Amino acid sequence: MRPDVIVRCIDVSKRFGSREVYEGLFLEVYRGEILALLGRSGSGKSVLLKLLLGLMRPDRGAILVNGTDIVQLSERQLADVRRGIGMVFQAGALFDSLTVYDNIAYGLQEHLRWPKARIRDRVREVLEAVDLRGVEDMLPGELSGGMRKRVAVARAIAPGPELLLYDEPTTGLDPATARRVVDLIRSLKQRLGVTSLVVTHDVHSVFRVAERLALIGGGRLAWSGEISEARRNPPAALLRFLGEGEDEEWNPPASSP
Ligand SMILES: Nc1ncnc2c1ncn2[C@@H]1O[C@H](COP(=O)(O)OP(=O)(O)O)[C@@H](O)[C@H]1O
Ligand SMILES: [Mg+2]
Repeated sequence: MRPDVIVRCIDVSKRFGSREVYEGLFLEVYRGEILALLGRSGSGKSVLLKLLLGLMRPDRGAILVNGTDIVQLSERQLADVRRGIGMVFQAGALFDSLTVYDNIAYGLQEHLRWPKARIRDRVREVLEAVDLRGVEDMLPGELSGGMRKRVAVARAIAPGPELLLYDEPTTGLDPATARRVVDLIRSLKQRLGVTSLVVTHDVHSVFRVAERLALIGGGRLAWSGEISEARRNPPAALLRFLGEGEDEEWNPPASSP
C-alpha cells in the first residue's frame, strides 16, 4: 500500500551565499507518523523546518503540503497553510513577559479570533494533554526547562494542527526530562493522530521517539527507513554519522519501549 504523504520535498535546493545547505533534497513525511530527521549541527535541519513553514523559500524545487506546492503561494495563502502546522521551536520561544495562559491563548485570540470561553477550555485541555496543572498564571521564567518545553508543546497543539514540527525537542534537557518529552510526543501522536516531524542530532531520542528515520547529510537525504530496519541493519550512512558523531557513543537499543 502506498503511504499517504502529507509533506513531500522534491529536488529542493537552498543556499546562503556560497554555503549550499540543500542540493537536491527529496523527502517524504507520511500522514500520521513520527518521522525523526537526523543530521549533524549545521546540516540544515532548522532551515528545513523554515522551508516547510514557508518562512524561507528554496532556490529550486517544490515543497508539497497536502499536495499544494507552498513555494508558489502568496503570504496570505501561506498563513492558511501555517494554521495547519504547529511548531515547537528549539528554545521554546515563549514570550517571557506573558503568563503560561497568555502564551497559549495568544494565537487563538490574535490569529484565530476564538471567543474567550472557547480559549479558556482549550488552554485547560492542552495543559492537561502535556501533563501540567496549576501553571496558568506563572511566567516562563518560573518554570523548569522541561516544563517550558511542555508549555511550548501545549501552545503548538492548541489550534489543533495536523502536522507538528519539533526542533531539537530534547536538546539541553537532562536524560529523565528528555525521556518525558519523548513520551509526550508519542502520546500526542496516539491521542491526536497528529503527524510529527522531529528534527534532532540526538541519536538516542531518535530511537525512542520515531517510527521512521530520515538522515540528512551533504544537503541531501542520505537514508530513510523504518526505525526497526535501522536498528536491525544500520545503514552505512547511519554508521558513518555515528562514527563521526560529536559526542555520541552508540549502542543500538535492543527493542522499542
Ligand atoms: N538566515 C540565514 N542566513 C545565512 N545562513 C544561514 C541562515 N540560516 C541558516 N544558515 C546556515 O545554514 C546552515 C544550516 O543551518 P541550520 O539549519 O540552522 O542547521 P541545523 O541542522 O544545526 O539546524 C548553517 O551553515 C547556517 O549557518
Ligand atoms: Mg537547528
